[in-house]
Amino acid sequence: MPHARLNGIDLHWAERGNGAAVLFLHGFPFNRTLWDAQVASLPAGRRALAPDLRGFGASRDAGKGPLTMEQHAADVVALLDQLRIERTVVCGLSMGGYVALAMLRAAPERLRALVLSDTHAEPDGAAAREARIATADRARREGSAGIVATLLPRLLAESTFTQAPEVVERLRSLMEAASPESIARASLGMAERADSRPLLASIRVPVLVLGGESDALTPPAVLRALAAAIPGARLEQLPDAGHVANLENPAAFDSALHAFLASLPND
Ligand code: MLT
Repeated sequence: MPHARLNGIDLHWAERGNGAAVLFLHGFPFNRTLWDAQVASLPAGRRALAPDLRGFGASRDAGKGPLTMEQHAADVVALLDQLRIERTVVCGLSMGGYVALAMLRAAPERLRALVLSDTHAEPDGAAAREARIATADRARREGSAGIVATLLPRLLAESTFTQAPEVVERLRSLMEAASPESIARASLGMAERADSRPLLASIRVPVLVLGGESDALTPPAVLRALAAAIPGARLEQLPDAGHVANLENPAAFDSALHAFLASLPND
């Protein structure tokens, strides 16, 4: 797997294809393999890049503080610099969406278009921040299995639990592979993320907002509000999918993503 020394860590990423770049940013507490199906099925003429965000997968980070969205955004911009990619489509799921919005704030000129999946622009309120601290404590006390037990039941659609046990198991092992310390640090990093709502009206690149119809964490009304706040944004709600729409209904996710990519001008 390609990797490079960037911003003080060895950042690893999966890569496939040639042409206009599409950068996939995974959610919490997953890693680049969340995007395996999308990386494999990206149409010809596109170059898929799926990094392990700092602290996850093979991108180890021995630091101690919160893993902030700004740091992740700086890491992926450094990756684009390393690969001499000027502009890219960015596709972020959940926490990956927070990182995409941080990237838009820090380096808007690097975005060609934006795909926001199962995510939202609001910062955490007081209760959500308390819950993040509890998650961090639990991860440090009980390890990743403790997080799987509380988080997994909320992540997936009922239909995924009943009809696609292999998807449930795949996500479970992905989450169990996460380092408890990174889970804790990422939780604390998400708790301090900025309010991205003021950014939305000024977005000038094409945007696709999509997510699972049964997403309990970012429900359809939240996605509708996100899409409505972004000029010209497309909205797609996917059946038979919860919060991890690309894994739960990859056919619907890929069809929405590929149609969006095909619609981009001068591509
Ligand atoms: C994720 O899937 O990345 C998380 O649900 C994000 C969050 O906890 O806010």
